[in-house]
Amino acid sequence: MKRFRRLRSNEQIRRLVRETYVDKKDLIYPIFVIEGENIRNPVPSMPGIYQYSVDQLDEILQPISESKIAGLLIFGIPKHKDELATSAYDDNGITQTAIRYIKTKYPDILIIADVCLCEYTSHGHCGLVKHDVILNDETLPLLSKMSVSLAKAGADIIAPSDMMDGRVGAIRKALDENGFLNTPIMAYSAKFASGYYSPFRDAAESAPCFGDRRTYQMDCSNGKEALREIEADIEEGADIVMVKPALAYLDVVQKASEYHVPLAAYNVSGEYSMVKAAAQNGWIDEKRIVLENLTAIKRAGADIIITYHALDAAKWLEEE
Ligand code: PBG
Ligand code: ZN
Repeated sequence: MKRFRRLRSNEQIRRLVRETYVDKKDLIYPIFVIEGENIRNPVPSMPGIYQYSVDQLDEILQPISESKIAGLLIFGIPKHKDELATSAYDDNGITQTAIRYIKTKYPDILIIADVCLCEYTSHGHCGLVKHDVILNDETLPLLSKMSVSLAKAGADIIAPSDMMDGRVGAIRKALDENGFLNTPIMAYSAKFASGYYSPFRDAAESAPCFGDRRTYQMDCSNGKEALREIEADIEEGADIVMVKPALAYLDVVQKASEYHVPLAAYNVSGEYSMVKAAAQNGWIDEKRIVLENLTAIKRAGADIIITYHALDAAKWLEEE
């Protein structure tokens, strides 16, 4: 008889043979910065998550800095939205202003800047729209301009999440031409059209006002296509690739980990909110579930986890 239980007999032995560890240095915490003053809006569908104006940002930057997690992912919410997403590539836009503030006051925090137009367009789509069609090639110069503007403000990593074809190559070229040869691109390569994003759209005020994102984000049935997306992004110059969402797509995470490129997985808003809701009802043990979920994402092969649980998890990992 095989006695598997031998290696489970006590915590010291279990620890000795444990295969996967989550470390706080693997975790990235998303933040939402809104234009205006004195704003600290709780996001109702994401308990514990707030939109902050820049003057209130310290409340979240302080714990991020102290937690020693890997860094933050920044999303800006502008006052002014229009068809051309002009606030997205305005050097004095909300995201650029917030990045300059963070860099000055917290130089030790790594800043990853999300690049997409949906928070900045009046229609809420991730690209330019003409006759209700989301244009691909016409969107690329705007994403490039936005990327350069964010890099200029001090972003350490540029993370395009729009899912237009060819955007990684276009952004790489624009960054290089503007002297940002050493600014890495973390590409949302396999980003699925997912129902798990709806709480985020409350937080980022970025829901599309007509249609949906299925003409640019991936069909949730397609695992092999995800690998072609990842290969294309690596060829175009992605330094880090991403699978999103994480938990419902761990098969894709596992296959993506075979490319020998650093791999991020985004544990998205809906995944977070389901855990929070069940925990608030006393139906699950939040700490245990969160650490189990994060361990599963690492076990599947992710190197980096973007998660709204990052600060709680860092604290819990410290306790372990
Ligand atoms: C914007 C963007 C989205 C997310 C990250 N960047 C939403 C979307 O595509 O509608 C989702 C993140 C989350 O749900 O936590 N393109
Ligand atoms: Zn978008």
